[in-house]
Amino acid sequence: MSVTESDIPEVFFSDGWITAVEYLVSSGKEGTVFCCLAAPHTGHDRLAVKVHRSRDHRSFKNDAVYLSGRAMGVSLDGSRGLKSSGMPDRRLERAVTKRSKRGKAAIQHSWINHEFNTLQVLHQAGARVPEPFTMSGHAMLMEYLGDADGPAPQLKHVALERQRAVEMFTGLMREIELWLACDRIHGDLSPFNILYWQGRAMVIDFPQAVNPHENPDSLLLLERDIRNVATYFQPFGVVADPTRIAQELWYRFMRGTL
Ligand SMILES: Nc1ncnc2c1ncn2[C@@H]1O[C@H](COP(=O)(O)OP(=O)(O)OP(=O)(O)O)[C@@H](O)[C@H]1O
Ligand SMILES: [Mg+2]
Repeated sequence: MSVTESDIPEVFFSDGWITAVEYLVSSGKEGTVFCCLAAPHTGHDRLAVKVHRSRDHRSFKNDAVYLSGRAMGVSLDGSRGLKSSGMPDRRLERAVTKRSKRGKAAIQHSWINHEFNTLQVLHQAGARVPEPFTMSGHAMLMEYLGDADGPAPQLKHVALERQRAVEMFTGLMREIELWLACDRIHGDLSPFNILYWQGRAMVIDFPQAVNPHENPDSLLLLERDIRNVATYFQPFGVVADPTRIAQELWYRFMRGTL
């Protein structure tokens, strides 16, 4: 079943965040994004609503890689934030491992809470990610990157001259470093998840982000993210060694000197 406007939580309207849905921005594998008109007191013209697909229709490739090491002490009532400490719920962990109905529901809430929580942490740290405002059920409300003419283009569709490409690549490496200092690796970074807005790169789509203290595949995921970005910038004249960059960052992360 596809996600429609009716899946946008009523509370986003009744709590005075948005007044109307303007248009559908994207309907992808994992999430559907709508551009909404913001209530005037929010100080924004538009806000983005991202609705995650229901658990039975999601298709996260190899979700075990991302869930590995993630604390699954999630609340099933949709309350905010993934608990990463506290008493582990062994029955819930077993349900997750077996992918039972309850386990799948926990994973679903985990993805949503996790993306919202990650955006909160990174935005507070000054990262160039959309500001998250609130979440409810399977949906979250965040800063809209775009204007009346449409959403910001994905970096994939932007042509850059060399000097600008070098600056943007360097800036993105600094972002990756900042995320790592906040104990986050994106895990699915690509020019599709980077939007080009007001001359700068903004990174989106964090549900699969991993904690490098907990996930055993962290260095591989970090290097893959860096390689995906480097490969995109290569035709614009950016020369980089993703393995070396990843290893240097990882070394500083392990030493606590980021
Ligand atoms: N805050 C935002 N402002 C403007 N556009 C956005 C925003 N967030 C997402 N989008 C648009 O919606 C698309 C899908 O968002 P996102 O990548 O977060 O979801 P997804 O679950 O990965 O979907 P897909 O499977 O299509 O990648 C993005 O590529 C982008 O074009
Ligand atoms: Mg995406």
